[in-house]
Amino acid sequence: MRVLKHIFDDNKKWAEKIRETDPDFFVKLSQQQNPQYLWIGCSDSRVPANQIVDMMPGEIFVHRNIANMVIHTDLNCLSVIQYAVDVLKVKHIIVCGHYGCGGIKAALEQKEHGLIDNWLRHIKDVYRYYQERIDRLDNNDERINLLCELNVIEQVANVCHTTIVQSAWKSGQELAVHGWIYHIDNGLLKDLNVCTTGIYDISETHRLKL
Ligand code: CO
Repeated sequence: MRVLKHIFDDNKKWAEKIRETDPDFFVKLSQQQNPQYLWIGCSDSRVPANQIVDMMPGEIFVHRNIANMVIHTDLNCLSVIQYAVDVLKVKHIIVCGHYGCGGIKAALEQKEHGLIDNWLRHIKDVYRYYQERIDRLDNNDERINLLCELNVIEQVANVCHTTIVQSAWKSGQELAVHGWIYHIDNGLLKDLNVCTTGIYDISETHRLKL
């Protein structure tokens, strides 16, 4: 008897349902993937990339971690970005946060959580940049949600500052980096209007002479 049998049963039904509308779907997909988008999102179970944007397998390349962070030296995230940009040649990188993010909330508190506190330090750095603006709000939920938005904006900048994205722009590759946020309470996305499409959109401090 297989453990978690219901998951295997559901998987079988799901694959059959897709084959009913397109019998060759999986065979075609097994030969190549050609996604146009890289999604960098939160691990939160309520924010599943493919479902939110109603995309099929093969359409979106995905990296998720706690609070959708792009840390300068995180080889996991950087490897995903490099593969997506250099090999898959995605046209869009989307950093998508969400309101009510547990990682953001934890970063605003002083409670101890163990190992993850080291990860949350990066969010505390973002808080530190905008502390005055955030602390001006009296409502805690508003403070959390503002930091959720500002964190996305910072992570978009972090994506743009990577040598990977700057090299792609220098070589003339078409690539846009977007910052979005998702409302877990109504299922809708909001564009934070920080779309960045070229090396002259980023700060001079971070611009590399490649
Ligand atoms: Co989250």
